[in-house]
Amino acid sequence: MDDLQTRKAIIAACLKMNTVGLNQGTSGNISVRVGDYILITPTSIPYEDLLPEDIVRLDMDGTPHGLRKPSSEWRFHLDILRARPDLNAVVHAHAPYCTTLAIMHMDIPAVHYMVAAAGGEDIRCAPYATFGTQELSDRVIEALEGRKACLMAHHGMLAAEASLDKAMWLAVEVEALARQYHGALLLGDPPVLNDDQLAEAIAQFTRGYGQATTD
Ligand code: 13P
Repeated sequence: MDDLQTRKAIIAACLKMNTVGLNQGTSGNISVRVGDYILITPTSIPYEDLLPEDIVRLDMDGTPHGLRKPSSEWRFHLDILRARPDLNAVVHAHAPYCTTLAIMHMDIPAVHYMVAAAGGEDIRCAPYATFGTQELSDRVIEALEGRKACLMAHHGMLAAEASLDKAMWLAVEVEALARQYHGALLLGDPPVLNDDQLAEAIAQFTRGYGQATTD
């Protein structure tokens, strides 16, 4: 996707993240790598009002270009895309069930095989740090070690993937997982997959899930 197509895709993803219940209001933010720079949502503008020119370009050293101020969370978006060449898009949302677990500082264990879609045996919850800070970015990077999604204590969640479509898919799946885990906790002490079951699920995702695409 070129620059303009990516700006339009980011706006469409922002609108979708609110209509599917993954996020609300001006919470959340999205970034996508385009060659040697990233495009990121501007801070605090309602998604319904966004125009392609409102999306901010950030050089890989953090220099912003555009009409608007970038998302207050530009640091973790940039740090993730700098540290992880395997990832090209980051979706951050205050998704209700992920945030409920994150308020309780809970990781999501392997209560369902879909945990493996995020790359490992669990989805970690990064310890709390103030929004928009380098400290939060550092904690997020640590929680994402070997993973493509994490929760953020007293804050929300994020999912990162090779493309924006995939990152949105993963964000929706992680929120579903959080809802299922929350429901199972209400019924008792949820059992988890054993190491062999989990290893096989991770291997299945590593072999590739879905249609082969070029994105
Ligand atoms: P921005 O509007 O600055 O992107 O902030 C929203 C948010 O979710 C901060 O964590």
